[in-house]
Amino acid sequence: SHFAIAQLLKGAVAVDSQVTVKGWIRTRRDSKAGISFLAVHDGSCFDPIQAVVPNSLNNYNEVTTLTAGCSVEVTGKLVPSEGQGQSFEIQADEVKIVGMVENPDTYPMAAKRHSIEYLREHAHLRPRTNMIGAVTRVRNCLSQAIHRFYHERGFFWISTPIITASDCEGAGEMFRVSTLDMQNLPRDDKGNVDYSEDFFGKEAFLTVSGQLNGETYCSAMSNIYTFGPTFRAENSNTSRHLAEFWMVEPEVAFADLNDIAKLAEDMLKYVFNAVLTERRDDMEFFAQRIEKTAISRLESFVEKDFAQVDYTDAIEILKNCGKKFEFPVEWGVDLQSEHERYLAEVHFEAPVVIKNYPKDIKAFYMRQNEDGKTVAAMDVVAPGIGEIIGGSQREERLDVLDARLEEMGLDKEDYSWYRDLRKYGTVPHSGFGLGFERLVAYVTGMGNVRDVIAFPRTKGSATY
Ligand code: 4AD
Ligand code: MG
Repeated sequence: SHFAIAQLLKGAVAVDSQVTVKGWIRTRRDSKAGISFLAVHDGSCFDPIQAVVPNSLNNYNEVTTLTAGCSVEVTGKLVPSEGQGQSFEIQADEVKIVGMVENPDTYPMAAKRHSIEYLREHAHLRPRTNMIGAVTRVRNCLSQAIHRFYHERGFFWISTPIITASDCEGAGEMFRVSTLDMQNLPRDDKGNVDYSEDFFGKEAFLTVSGQLNGETYCSAMSNIYTFGPTFRAENSNTSRHLAEFWMVEPEVAFADLNDIAKLAEDMLKYVFNAVLTERRDDMEFFAQRIEKTAISRLESFVEKDFAQVDYTDAIEILKNCGKKFEFPVEWGVDLQSEHERYLAEVHFEAPVVIKNYPKDIKAFYMRQNEDGKTVAAMDVVAPGIGEIIGGSQREERLDVLDARLEEMGLDKEDYSWYRDLRKYGTVPHSGFGLGFERLVAYVTGMGNVRDVIAFPRTKGSATY
């Protein structure tokens, strides 16, 4: 009769049942009357369950030595709790001590508030805190909801490769994958590294995006998405950038820019709703401790349409808003985080879809608009975090794509398979990439992507 604490606290088990919970001590308090109160958590929900341990138990003296972090199995009767904020508790008739904590005084997760930086330095122990526990459950809820959303709409989940030969975004931020001996690199006549001796017989990298591979399956299966890790050798040390992050990339055949802007909005609303209903306990914690509006802003965003604005109009808004930005604004510049946040937080006060960016600041695959200056790109920008989604309609016209490849100095040979999609039954198609950690950071209000992935990888840091 072992139950997850979540089952017991939500009333899924009959009162007076004999139950066992297995978990870790969060706190212990002993009353003078010879009763010890244990708060036991097992990760299944935000609240621990209280076990009331009477001194009639033969190991009562040992029970009163338990400290935060000790592991136990508690068996007893499930009863309604008289204590505040607790639905049920356990009247223990057995406490099995499984693992003690050595030197409780130096236990790194001793029950007190720890700074977020301190927790990052203890990434192997931080899931025991209620904050990181809450993040972990919300992250899980979001990923399950994403899969459910696409499944319900008939999308196929495609696993695209992690090792690739192409730089989708063309930003030169790829990590090399190689088995060559770095001390003794093979060289050709000109002194260049000879990758023909490398594992794959050519240069290989960790993927920055599954999109190009995703397009191939979209051009046959109609609606697909990827959900997997992506890698960028980002030099930026910010709260929004990781070297390893997870991306969700739907790709839709016969869809234009407006279709996927709508898809992005529907998806975000779907997952916001999922979190609001399934993880109320954790969201209440975030609203109390991390971000006052954590719940209310999601509730209001699922109610109303997202704002939509053309890049060109967004530039006018920024130029005329009277605010002095660190990076000056003029048509043609890439929007910086400060600009995105002004638009979402001050001007629109809602997530906003920015469309039709200048082609010179965007990747080769984006579809050119009639004006010759812009491409059918879109970003979804959220208050408090900035860009969480980047996407576009793809260039489906072979001649236009070829001209663009040439203009950007890219080798047609390298893209022969990608060009085949335009030669054989080409269709208009569109897709986007959702930065999963940015979504989790936004929803929880945590604000830094390092705190919403288990083991963050950033420049200069790859512990564990
Ligand atoms: O805007 P990006 O670079 O777009 C692409 O990679 C496209 N191939 C996606 C597509 O159309 N299928 O990245 C997409 C999203 C960004 O909006 C951002 O949320 C996130 O990925 N992202 C990062 N998240 C964390 N750390 C980083 N270094 C990130 N770089 C991008
Ligand atoms: Mg982008």
